[in-house]
Amino acid sequence: MIDDLIKANEYVISKIKENNEVILEMEEYAKEHNVPIVTKEVAEYLKFMIKSNKSKNILEVGTAIGYSGSVMLQGNEDVTITTIEIDEDRYNEARVNFEKMGYSSRVNQILGDALVEIPKLDDTFDFIFIDAAKGKYMDFYKDSYKLLKKDGIIFIDNIMFRGYLYNEYPKRFKTIVRKLNEFIEYLHENEDFVLLPFGDGIGLVYNRGDKKHK
Ligand SMILES: C[S@@+](CC[C@H](N)C(=O)[O-])C[C@H]1O[C@@H](n2cnc3c(N)ncnc32)[C@H](O)[C@@H]1O
Repeated sequence: MIDDLIKANEYVISKIKENNEVILEMEEYAKEHNVPIVTKEVAEYLKFMIKSNKSKNILEVGTAIGYSGSVMLQGNEDVTITTIEIDEDRYNEARVNFEKMGYSSRVNQILGDALVEIPKLDDTFDFIFIDAAKGKYMDFYKDSYKLLKKDGIIFIDNIMFRGYLYNEYPKRFKTIVRKLNEFIEYLHENEDFVLLPFGDGIGLVYNRGDKKHK
């Protein structure tokens, strides 16, 4: 058993080699402008899952500047993505980045609140990535699950919210912490679900396709 997960994580990240200039630029931009993007090892895991699951059609909730979206398309030439972002500046930044990556034709970018936009979608997905406002995770989840194909996966990032689910947390986060704890309990009770303690906590749900979602 590895007893120092932070060091182990640093080791994992040190082994990842990134050569794509646009991806590196996005990482720099995110750092400079305080845009939260997936951590490097989560990005690698996302890419791996898209490949191993043979996903073709992705839904992303929370585009930000298009970093995770680009990562999921990287090396997966026959994959398309619909991605939703509420912040117009980030939406525009993402548009430029998808163009630079040469991915524009494979990306359906939507500007708006995912809770309004997901129910309007007339499509189904084999991979759904949820990475937006933590207090609304249950709502994003229930809306998007309706569009998840049999054998599809929902990948939920930051589900352990900066460690606040198991450490002391600032009072202002009380509601988010309660909601995320309830969400994790709900997923354990109702879904084929696994909770993984890396990045900022990852939740994976598998749709066996044999039950009606509540
Ligand atoms: C953690 S960032 C996403 C990072 C991105 N997935 C990546 O790793 O490159 C979360 C994003 O979700 C957006 N967001 C928050 N609430 C939203 C909502 N209700 N609908 C759509 N986007 C939302 C935020 O503006 C923010 O850009």
